[in-house]
Amino acid sequence: MKILILNGPNLSRLDLREQKHYGQMDYPQLKAAIEQKASELKIDVEIKQSDSESELISWLHEAADKKLPVIFNPAAFTHYSYAIRDAVSMLTAPAIEVHLSNPLSREEFRHTSVISGVVQGTIAGFGVDSYRLALIAMQKIIG
Ligand code: DQA
Repeated sequence: MKILILNGPNLSRLDLREQKHYGQMDYPQLKAAIEQKASELKIDVEIKQSDSESELISWLHEAADKKLPVIFNPAAFTHYSYAIRDAVSMLTAPAIEVHLSNPLSREEFRHTSVISGVVQGTIAGFGVDSYRLALIAMQKIIG
């Protein structure tokens, strides 16, 4: 079973963002760490990133058609994209929302997730471990 891992806007420039929230890892290192954990767990993953709402929605539609489980960091779209929420709610396999930082400990606009209500669960605040924990949780969910 393949798991699709989607990352939203600005995550490709991780090492240039606020270090107190995102640490020092760059995006290729984040990808490599996720791939390493997936291989330990014997899970096949495909990891993609886009700054475009439209492209993320197309990938979610494809995942729905292929019945792929999705681990998703929607980045800033988390807080306001009803279009992405609607696409996530159309998924046909489980989805887990992840965040590197803990949005609830940050600015007030980050306290709302329009995505949380349409996913199995959310893991936030553990840096790259949020993705590792999501892989473990997803493996248990899909068996
Ligand atoms: C983020 C948290 C969001 O609030 C922010 O807009 C991001 C990254 C995270 O992984 O911590 O871009 O999703």
